[in-house]
Amino acid sequence: MSSPVTDTAGAGVVLEAIKISKSYPGVRALSNIDLSLQAGRIHALVGLNGAGKSTLVKILSGVERPDSGELRVRGTHVNFHGPRDAVAAGLVTIHQELSVLPNLSVAENVMLAAIARSEIRPISWTRIRATARSVLARLGSDLDVRLKARDLSVAQQQVVELAKALQGKASAILLDEPTATLPQRDVDILFTVMRRLRSQGTAMVYISHRMEEIYEIADSVSVLRDGHLAGTYAMADLPAGRIVKEMIGTTEVDEAATQVDTGPSQQRTIGEPVLEAARVGDGKTIFDISLTLHRGEMLAVAGLVGSGQGELSKCLFGARKISGGTLRVNGRAIKRLTPRRAIRLGVGLLPADRKYEGLILGMSIRDNTTLANHRRYSRFGILQNRDESRETKRITSELRLKAYSIAQAAGTLSGGNQQKVVVAKWLVAQSRILIFEEPTRGIDVHAKQEIYGLIHDFVARGGSAIVLSSELSEVMMCDRAIVLAKGRVVGELGHEEMISDRNRLLEMFA
Ligand SMILES: Nc1ncnc2c1ncn2[C@@H]1O[C@H](COP(=O)(O)OP(=O)(O)OP(=O)(O)O)[C@@H](O)[C@H]1O
Ligand SMILES: [Mg+2]
Repeated sequence: MSSPVTDTAGAGVVLEAIKISKSYPGVRALSNIDLSLQAGRIHALVGLNGAGKSTLVKILSGVERPDSGELRVRGTHVNFHGPRDAVAAGLVTIHQELSVLPNLSVAENVMLAAIARSEIRPISWTRIRATARSVLARLGSDLDVRLKARDLSVAQQQVVELAKALQGKASAILLDEPTATLPQRDVDILFTVMRRLRSQGTAMVYISHRMEEIYEIADSVSVLRDGHLAGTYAMADLPAGRIVKEMIGTTEVDEAATQVDTGPSQQRTIGEPVLEAARVGDGKTIFDISLTLHRGEMLAVAGLVGSGQGELSKCLFGARKISGGTLRVNGRAIKRLTPRRAIRLGVGLLPADRKYEGLILGMSIRDNTTLANHRRYSRFGILQNRDESRETKRITSELRLKAYSIAQAAGTLSGGNQQKVVVAKWLVAQSRILIFEEPTRGIDVHAKQEIYGLIHDFVARGGSAIVLSSELSEVMMCDRAIVLAKGRVVGELGHEEMISDRNRLLEMFA
């Protein structure tokens, strides 16, 4: 294994993309993109939803082939016919869907390539474990290498992936939105590992919608706008706020749209209770939770990933069994809530894991937003919104959904645009109580504002919203927040208190 490179400035270009273009039916995803990755440098890739970031990563990692343009690895022209070729050339990709093998141990995952190449012969588990441990130690991790990968947190799985990359002597690592599902303390772990890899000479591409992360970790940044390269900058030369302007484009700069609105609408009147939970628990993860949601109210359930948020929202939607406590909807006690009953009662859930729970990827945008509701609605006998397709058009355009047609399959949309379809679906359905799980995860800075606007409109028209969130700014836009930790309510704050006593809110979070 090579010794750590300490001074990597000028250590050279690891990977170059030259004039890369790629089209899909109806959209030019990338036009003439140039990108250059240096050893020991972290290069950020930013852009609004659908700008082409993931497409570029797919090309660099051999998943997709460019229509034109060239890739060079350490100056040599390469032609990737599949992901294997990219891995063989020393490029490792951490996609959002992780590729650790769940039934193998940490040691086996880290050492997979070496085992496959018969580098350790005869197979000695003691040696495999010891080597895996030393690779993890280089990343500052003391993870138990005998654990099965499926028992690890997302952050730990990412560390295993990075260790795997390091073991395979990757010269460049491409990370596509690795922090989208991570709580803050895990982001810190990831960044620590990335800094170590950087000091050891690894080149990295880093994609994120969180600007503060870009400023914290990146050395340089390329901004993509509608498949074009808007510019490449050294972070040091870039004043705060400039990146967002570059992403949106000068013609369209709208200062207000880049600011996150943290105030609830003034004119709203908060009415009678519509959803009440009294001492609700599931016997496993959440305990004794009481909350009341009123008509016209936005209630935040604040807490880190793993605080029991996901379980609570599933209980409120009837998708998880309640072992104790009572639930009331519109004043009526509900004995055994099921998703079917919840929908009939006008309750909608917008799950965080949109890929598996929120969308039918093979279906078009139109069908995802209307037909799905249509069928469900006629089946459950709920009144239709007369002009729902007009609604779909209005809502998707307000959300700046980037698609060439509403007939496009949801699965071909960018990650952030898929999330917008899920949001649109429930807004079109006009449920009366909406439970949003992390509604702006993976959503670009520009569209966040629109999603908040739509939630505001929804409650202003008499709907009620629960927003489960681990993002402070998202919590602060609500009328009230209850804070969850380890499955219990640890505090409650009104909007004014959140603003005036931000530190208290932060403390409760931790
Ligand atoms: N398989 C596909 N078929 C058709 N269009 C596609 C396909 N894959 C991507 N696209 C389109 O290419 C464009 C770029 O998508 P891409 O996934 O690269 O965006 P992104 O910058 O990663 O966005 P996000 O931040 O939302 O993840 C989008 O308009 C998207 O709909
Ligand atoms: Mg993407």
